Amino acid sequence: MSTVSYKNGLLHMENVPLQKIAQKHGTPVYCYSTQRLAENFQAYQSALRAIMPEDKFTICYACKANGNQAILHLLGKLGAGADVVSGGEMYRAFKAGIPHDKIVFSGVGKTPEEIAGAVRNDILQINVESEPELVAISGLAAKESAKTHVAFRVNPDVDANTHEKITTGKSENKFGIDIKSAPALYRKAKDMAGIAPTGVAVHIGSQLMDLAPFAEAFKRVATLVEELRRQGNIITTVDLGGGLGIPYKGETPPDIAKYAALIRDIILPLNVGVILEPGRSIAGDAGVLLTRVRYLKESEDRRFLIVDAGMNDLMRPALYGAHHEILSCNEPAQNAVMTAYDVVGPVCETSDTFRAGAELPRTDPDALLAIMTAGAYGASMASNYNTRPLPAEILVSDEQFDVIRPPQKIEDIVAADVIPEWLA
Ligand code: LLP
Repeated sequence: MSTVSYKNGLLHMENVPLQKIAQKHGTPVYCYSTQRLAENFQAYQSALRAIMPEDKFTICYACKANGNQAILHLLGKLGAGADVVSGGEMYRAFKAGIPHDKIVFSGVGKTPEEIAGAVRNDILQINVESEPELVAISGLAAKESAKTHVAFRVNPDVDANTHEKITTGKSENKFGIDIKSAPALYRKAKDMAGIAPTGVAVHIGSQLMDLAPFAEAFKRVATLVEELRRQGNIITTVDLGGGLGIPYKGETPPDIAKYAALIRDIILPLNVGVILEPGRSIAGDAGVLLTRVRYLKESEDRRFLIVDAGMNDLMRPALYGAHHEILSCNEPAQNAVMTAYDVVGPVCETSDTFRAGAELPRTDPDALLAIMTAGAYGASMASNYNTRPLPAEILVSDEQFDVIRPPQKIEDIVAADVIPEWLA
């Protein structure tokens, strides 16, 4: 059940009226539900527990979805590991207390410093995306006299049927190693210093609303594992990449038990440990972005609601044409007449539009709106464009709510700039 709903005429997150948060902390402001974060994580945990022993799987939450320390800490306490894609995210995971042996490091452009950090901290595994990267990891690990577990992230050439900008498993995408050339690379890797090539990883894209592409990718991975073993490699782990898609406009998401059944049927016969890297499906529907209407601008054929959140706070609509429901924080009356508004931000770009034609009850300046399903890839992708400070983030639990990131100060943004002496 959603943890965001109307009660007594007001939109609540758990048992807090969202109006109360906006009054106390201003807008724009991100709010996250502790209960929802926990339930979403536990849904993966229960689905996997139902098919395999606890010590055979690790759910490495994809920090890129939302890497706030409070969220990582909460998930870590529930047993989550972390999937990180930069030295920054690795640091976040360490700081939040995620055990090192539950951290996987993915990404196509790891720097020598990042690799050395991963090696020194003895993380669970580095997912390798190319041969030159493998050579770099081997060199750095050998220098540290370490043995680093690596998995090759293979590109299975499966179409994920998702948005082109978040599809990653097609041969034309920059990600992973062509699955056909993987056996030759494992052969080479076996004799390289500093590494133990014990895993295979795959990730074909994000926001998958259909299980078929997962099934296809898993089958190709299983075939590869068998081939690698025939060739004498010891493969102990399979990393199945990101999680399930989520509804943004009432669609039916894939069933997690059926997803687990795919793992049971295709992967478990290999007798390997399983890593998952879900992000969106854990944080997405746990978060909303609250924004206040500043102005109502009406022309002959358009009604613009100019709100105080912008594309710098939530980039997804501008970047992907993503849909986010927008709700009034005051419950519309049963017989309320709905009006089509274009909900737009203050940033100087036409793409700073959250929704064209959002159906809302009559909305006046100062009204509070909730941009829904904004917990994943919202705050984590926010920027300072137009010198707009990053918004505050609030964590809600039952009737309490606390700041988990204060709003950025304009002075701090500007103070980071330096005027060189020769110009002064
Ligand atoms: N693992 C890897 C290697 C990934 O590249 C990703 C996401 C994930 C896991 C997590 O996938 P998820 O469970 O969240 O689907 N900014 C875009 C999404 C980009 C996803 C990038 N990789 C958006 O706002 O839709």
